[in-house]
Amino acid sequence: MRGGERISGETVIGAAKNAVLPMMAAAILADTPSTFVHCPRIVDVESMRGILRCLGVESRWRDDSLVIDGSRIISGEMPEKLSKRVRSSIFLLGPILGRLRKAAVVYPGGCEIGLRPIDLHLNGLKRMGVEIREAGGVLHCDGSRMHAADIHLDYPSVGATENVMMAAVLTPGRTTISNAAREPEIENLQAYINAMGGSVQGAGSATVVIDGVSKVRGVSFSPMFDRIAAGTYLCAAAITGGEITLRGAEPRHLTAVTQKLREMGCRIEETPDSVSLRAPARLRAFDTLQTQPHPGFPTDMQSQMMALASVARGSSVIVENVFENRFALAGDLNCMGANIRVAGRAALVQGVERLNGIHARARDLRGGAALVLAALAAEGETVISDVHLIDRGYAKMEDTLSRLGADIRRVSLTD
Ligand code: EPZ
Repeated sequence: MRGGERISGETVIGAAKNAVLPMMAAAILADTPSTFVHCPRIVDVESMRGILRCLGVESRWRDDSLVIDGSRIISGEMPEKLSKRVRSSIFLLGPILGRLRKAAVVYPGGCEIGLRPIDLHLNGLKRMGVEIREAGGVLHCDGSRMHAADIHLDYPSVGATENVMMAAVLTPGRTTISNAAREPEIENLQAYINAMGGSVQGAGSATVVIDGVSKVRGVSFSPMFDRIAAGTYLCAAAITGGEITLRGAEPRHLTAVTQKLREMGCRIEETPDSVSLRAPARLRAFDTLQTQPHPGFPTDMQSQMMALASVARGSSVIVENVFENRFALAGDLNCMGANIRVAGRAALVQGVERLNGIHARARDLRGGAALVLAALAAEGETVISDVHLIDRGYAKMEDTLSRLGADIRRVSLTD
């Protein structure tokens, strides 16, 4: 790709990866099919389909909808290779226990951004009476004596909140989760479960209440828009002095990001289902950005904001409070001419006039997306490899950006 082109135009934002993945897991609570409308064709969805297939759960695309049929689930044994590749396989633990009362899952393991422990997931399920025995890296879970429980999460973990929610849907009695994560995707999961006939309340707040029901049935559901993809494309316009309109983006789920972009000098206009941004010729630095659980600034947008800060006028401080290793991008930006110093969970970004194109590789999903943003603003050509990591969460990012004016194309290494 070659930098220097202004991003200009409008694009429709598709359904959220982080809403669809837990819903694909929750679909197996029902013995009739669910259809997810406008489901994103991203790598993580295909990987999750592969894991479901190993459990006997078939799925198929119908235009841009994904149909998942949980009627023939035959096993709760998750395949080791796939489970390690797709961390969100851990979301299946709750629904499998909810449906079959027994499961075997491998530790999903860490990834580029952190160790990603699952202690909060397991402690929550143990509170519900699940007996968990670890042997050779496999967790054998016996849910035959599962019961409702009051669960307090030491940390508002998104995955742990969703896993316990799903485990409780078919468990008799009232389960409460306090200090629950409040991300909008959890509210969306509640809406899907209730549409199936479940009884969940309070998602989006710090206390979620689940009243067990005897069965749920599959439904057609339209998952919420991807607020991280939306924030990423706003940043593409911001870093190139351009303007963009996002259709299907609900402003109320983007406030932490749009607030920061206003701080950097961007003009933001909103309607109930669209957000428009017009960027200044050059961005101003923001003072400080701290990532926090929702409604704080989303950690999944931290790398993108680091790219913007690297060419802004002034110095910005970024503090990454959620994951322990999410500053890998800083090294690549410095190779492009940025001036970033990292000390533990803090990064000091002193904005420079200009970045230069380089050959780099994506190191993680959001860091890779942020590298593309930096390349949009850089002088000269940038070649980014390992873009399959970006494909995990963005459907054909290069097509979207190219339609918006970017000089970007995907080439195969043999080209
Ligand atoms: C979800 O991951 C998202 N993934 C992540 O998005 C997102 O960054 C994260 O929530 C925070 O918003 C999906 O929804 C599929 P957490 P999750 O449990 O559930 C620690 C992306 O780029 N923790 O809230 O794994 C953990 O180590 C991805 O789309 C424990 O200590 O996030 C981390 O430091 C990246 N023990 C913090 O909590 C546990 O049992 C937040 O993790 C679980 C988590």
